[in-house]
Amino acid sequence: MNEEKLYQQLIHLRAQIQEHNYRYHVLDAPIISDLEYDRLLLELREIEGRHPEWVTPDSPSQRVGGFVSERFEKVAHPAPILSLANAFDRDGLSAWLDRLGKIDPRVFETDFVIEPKLDGLTVVLHYENGLFVRGATRGDGDIGEDITPNLRTIKSLPLRIPVAPDGPPAPGNLVVRGEVFINLDDFDEMNRRQEEAGEKVYQTPRNTAAGALRNLDSTVTASRPLRLYVYTIVAMSTEMPMTQIGSLEVLQTFGFPVSDHIHIANSIQEVIRVCESWIEKRDEIPFEIDGMVVKINDLGLANSLGVVGKDPRGAIAYKFPAKEVSTMLLDIGVNVGRTGVLTPYAILEPVEIGGVIVRQATLHNFDFIQEKDIRIGDRVLVKRAGDVIPYVVGPILEARTGDEQEFSPPKVCPTCGEPVSRIEGEVAIYCINPACPAQIIRNIEHFVSRSTLDIVGLGIKIVEQLVHANLVGDVADLYTLNKDDLLMLEGFAEKKADNLLESIEASKSQPLSKFIFALGIRGVGEVVGNDLAREFQSVDTLLSATREDLEGIEGIGPNIAQAVVDWLSHPANRVILGKLKNAGMWPSVQASAAKEEMNQVFLGKTFVVTGTLEAFTRTEVKEFITGMGGKVNSSVSAKTDYLVAGANAGSKLTKAQELGVQILSESELKEMARDEL
Ligand code: IVH
Repeated sequence: MNEEKLYQQLIHLRAQIQEHNYRYHVLDAPIISDLEYDRLLLELREIEGRHPEWVTPDSPSQRVGGFVSERFEKVAHPAPILSLANAFDRDGLSAWLDRLGKIDPRVFETDFVIEPKLDGLTVVLHYENGLFVRGATRGDGDIGEDITPNLRTIKSLPLRIPVAPDGPPAPGNLVVRGEVFINLDDFDEMNRRQEEAGEKVYQTPRNTAAGALRNLDSTVTASRPLRLYVYTIVAMSTEMPMTQIGSLEVLQTFGFPVSDHIHIANSIQEVIRVCESWIEKRDEIPFEIDGMVVKINDLGLANSLGVVGKDPRGAIAYKFPAKEVSTMLLDIGVNVGRTGVLTPYAILEPVEIGGVIVRQATLHNFDFIQEKDIRIGDRVLVKRAGDVIPYVVGPILEARTGDEQEFSPPKVCPTCGEPVSRIEGEVAIYCINPACPAQIIRNIEHFVSRSTLDIVGLGIKIVEQLVHANLVGDVADLYTLNKDDLLMLEGFAEKKADNLLESIEASKSQPLSKFIFALGIRGVGEVVGNDLAREFQSVDTLLSATREDLEGIEGIGPNIAQAVVDWLSHPANRVILGKLKNAGMWPSVQASAAKEEMNQVFLGKTFVVTGTLEAFTRTEVKEFITGMGGKVNSSVSAKTDYLVAGANAGSKLTKAQELGVQILSESELKEMARDEL
């Protein structure tokens, strides 16, 4: 590239980085991945490295990234809150150490601490005489935003240290740095609830955590499942630990949450081995990490190496290969959910992301497509994190050719062709035709699923078969199916038909709460199902409930109350309920209690379960035992009555033997339940 072109490229890079900085830090709405951002910055640094005369004070390379918003009070950090340089592979790690070796050859003899690089937000927490007094965002690295009330809502954040009464005395002043994030499971659960309530789903755990931390209303922050890990002592009035590992230990003894996954390595080869082993392991932990942080353990040595720009020399981030890639958006499809919600999804040119071929990705909702200006034919950035369904991050605007087509939300349901409707105040678009086949199938799927009535042997394929063969038009029709009906279907023989009919019959003894949840009323999940069952005790009483009765129940707001009343009074649903009642599918709390009483054969007995069981998952065996009145504990003691031991039982089995606790195999447990009945 000639010099003129190189200069143009530099100007272009600066403008791009500026824009992405703003989107990331101010709007909390990035359109490129962190990895791509890092690469842009790296390219800019490279050009500036070759032409130091081109460096200007306003170049994005010259600042500690970040913006200070006007909305919050300012907090000056007691020491600069630095960032980290990146390495993208093993050569990058070796090159880092070689560079350091030229400054101080002691680095070749030293050891390293390797920590997961949490994909969250940095926070700086101030403690005075053990009390949490202030907490801030990173801001521009020197000055952050005071978000103390929001931070107080994080349950794992110690409000007073030491947390344990026998912990070491707190120093007069202590400032620590950590990361706030959201677990992937919690994030999925949040989105499941949002979807159920017809509300906007959150885009990524990181953005959601960012939004929650900087929310002006801390009750909103409190409702988000934020977590914290700390990893640096920024300042301390008593003597600072000499090593990074020592710092983590001190933080832990004060009662701060510290990551479990800390490694010590004695050589750069070992560092590389540990970092690379985490590329696979990253999916096994409950939160998102985008790399590992490698730190020189000897803090005296690390500090003596100094800082380049905003990056301390003594530490480096090893970035994992991208789980984000770009590909073509071939088309946008629309799914119809069980509550009639229409959701758009991306049909992609197949692409490999982290070892999996991805052909479809979620586009969240129609507003998202509009906000991000996603067009068919765009090159889009797609991300996969943990076990989360891949999602589209946004379009790559630079790749536009002009041939892309804008997308308009459908006016009619893609399955039944009936006009769709948009409920005021909600982002979702609904198909409100109760006879829509897509909804019928999804409704039945929900009705029989494991978390609701748990009708074993009735998967989505069979549900589709039943609906397409006109054997089932609503959930109540399941209860009038007979063997001849089932034998007509492909893949059904005597045994399979008998089993299915048996499990449909068995669903009649499910508790009222599950039945209410299974109906698929918008906003009524497991928790609300429980609340309604407790309050009304039977379907008949629930049917006569008014909106006011419902709103009087704690945890039920006007939207859910309205949705319940609407659902229950809808003529089509009344017909379904009538059919269910006639079929004997009409649970009540009283009936369940009577049944439960008969089954309390383990009443007063304490169980511990260990090893791998064959027929049960851990949750199932617990439900089995507690359902019969028993108690399940996690550790064996003299009070334990029975230890249920599966394959590869370990120390619990030995302990039980030592204490003379009766040991049961899985089949003995089941037999015991049967004998006692
Ligand atoms: S150490 C000088 N340790 O990664 C110390 N940072 O890309 C620099 N991060 O701004 C930070 N986990 O927000 C450190 N275990 C960890 C980390 C970590 C996540 C974040 C932190 C930092 C960013 C740098």
